[in-house]
Amino acid sequence: MAKAFPREKYANLKYGRLVSSIAISVVLLTVFVTWDSWMLLSRPSNSIIPIYFYGAADVSSDLDAFVSQEGDDHVAKVDHDDEHESEVEVSAEEVIDQSADNSGCDLYNGEWYYDSEGPLYTNNTCPILSQTQNCQGNGRPDKEYENWRWRPFNCELPKFNATKFLELMSGKTITFVGDSVARNQMESLLCILWQVEVPQNKGNRRMQRWHFRSKSVTILRFWSAWLVHHTTEPFSYVPDGITKLHLDVPDETFMELAPKSDVLVFSNGHWFPKQSVYLLNNKIVGTQGYTLPVKHHQSLKITDTEAYKISTETALAAMATHSNYSGLTIVTSFSPDHYEKGAWNTGGSCTGKVRPLLPGQVVEYEYTNIMHDKQETGFYQATKRLTNRSKLKLMDITEAFKYRHDGHPGPYRNPDPNKITKRGRNGLPPPQDCLHWCMPGPVDTWNEIMLEIIRQEFEGNKKSAL
Ligand SMILES: *[C@@H]1O[C@H](CO)[C@@H](O)[C@H](O)[C@H]1NC(C)=O
Ligand SMILES: *[C@@H]1O[C@H](CO)[C@@H](O)[C@H](O)[C@H]1NC(C)=O
Ligand SMILES: *[C@@H]1O[C@H](CO)[C@@H](O)[C@H](O)[C@H]1NC(C)=O
Ligand SMILES: *[C@@H]1O[C@H](CO)[C@@H](O)[C@H](O)[C@H]1NC(C)=O
Repeated sequence: MAKAFPREKYANLKYGRLVSSIAISVVLLTVFVTWDSWMLLSRPSNSIIPIYFYGAADVSSDLDAFVSQEGDDHVAKVDHDDEHESEVEVSAEEVIDQSADNSGCDLYNGEWYYDSEGPLYTNNTCPILSQTQNCQGNGRPDKEYENWRWRPFNCELPKFNATKFLELMSGKTITFVGDSVARNQMESLLCILWQVEVPQNKGNRRMQRWHFRSKSVTILRFWSAWLVHHTTEPFSYVPDGITKLHLDVPDETFMELAPKSDVLVFSNGHWFPKQSVYLLNNKIVGTQGYTLPVKHHQSLKITDTEAYKISTETALAAMATHSNYSGLTIVTSFSPDHYEKGAWNTGGSCTGKVRPLLPGQVVEYEYTNIMHDKQETGFYQATKRLTNRSKLKLMDITEAFKYRHDGHPGPYRNPDPNKITKRGRNGLPPPQDCLHWCMPGPVDTWNEIMLEIIRQEFEGNKKSAL
């Protein structure tokens, strides 16, 4: 697995460097405190995250559609076929070491290379891709970002074979759970499969549902930005309307849906900077973007990144121990954003990036690295709870995708022909999305890797025969 932090670097600091780094830290702290108080003054605390960051209309409709509809009986109608269950039974020991599959293949250590064959679909051949991800349709002038493919150093990563995917998943259900990044991955999969078979739309207000008749494959997606139980009802002295996250209680929607799924794909993390109050065992243990109205006597030591770790462990341990679920759970690791030289609201930009970064050019973002480490820790904690019924896999794409600053919509988020796409006279870049991925684009690689994981699990760890 690729290393997120060059920890050795910090082990042998010389005295002189130590002094200068203390001086730098003091300066940075001053800058931060000044900036932070400016942020607080200039922005209400509940708007830490810009709505457009997640696609405004989409978020609210997702939330309405996927969270509010309690008791919808459509879930019970998901077709399910139990006969393959024995195929996914494995021993817990096999799961612990992710990088050492029997095939000896580390899918996450590799390089990007240019493939003139181009992508598996285009914006014109996939009718369901979200307009916010339709970079070509939104006027993005360059196109080469569609053609880079991932090549692991030590093994083959075959091009996505849609027929193969449908065969492997025959009679099965794959469910995507998470935030808008999970939607990005699910739509990419749909677009790829659409090229061999147009699925039937069987979705409802609660969730997206697509059915491929030829092999009776079902794809589901529903919204769960934190993967844990959340409510906005008043709690203690935290009023109505503020999100309360029960970090130790899994989101009941996917607990209910899990038994109907053969493969579950989790992808989230980008909602943790949002305002919320964290609870453990029904006690407030931390807040994010919110100050408690009265002095609190318990310690509030859980930060947003720590909350990500705990909630990841909660959700995955719930899958590992779920009495009615015996599927394969794949966790897509934290997706890196590329707001370079600033944050989304302080001049950060990915405009004009037309090719991947070269080895050695990656700019490390501390937040991405911390989130990745927290998620990974939560994942490994959960694997300790595995019995031999179900299986957990970390799809560790974070490092590889740090190179893909060219793969985001940037300012090409909507089809408005009059949108601003260049820096203004004040030097500030236009509003842009450097978090989600263009389609077609790098996100298609996630599904290539996912197919390889599924293939290894369902066919055994033999080398790819494709
Ligand atoms: C797809 O992108 C092309 C530009 O490459 C554009 O002309 C076309 O209108 C787009 N189609 C859709 C459906 O967005
Ligand atoms: C895709 O998979 C199918 C079914 O396994 C196989 O017959 C076909 O040869 C594969 N196509 C390619 C291009 O590898
Ligand atoms: C598993 O299924 C049984 C029988 O349908 C049900 O009573 C139980 O609550 C289910 N367990 C979970 C964790 O969903
Ligand atoms: C694993 O599964 C077998 C049956 O397939 C069962 O006998 C055994 O007790 C299980 N082991 C654990 C640790 O759950």
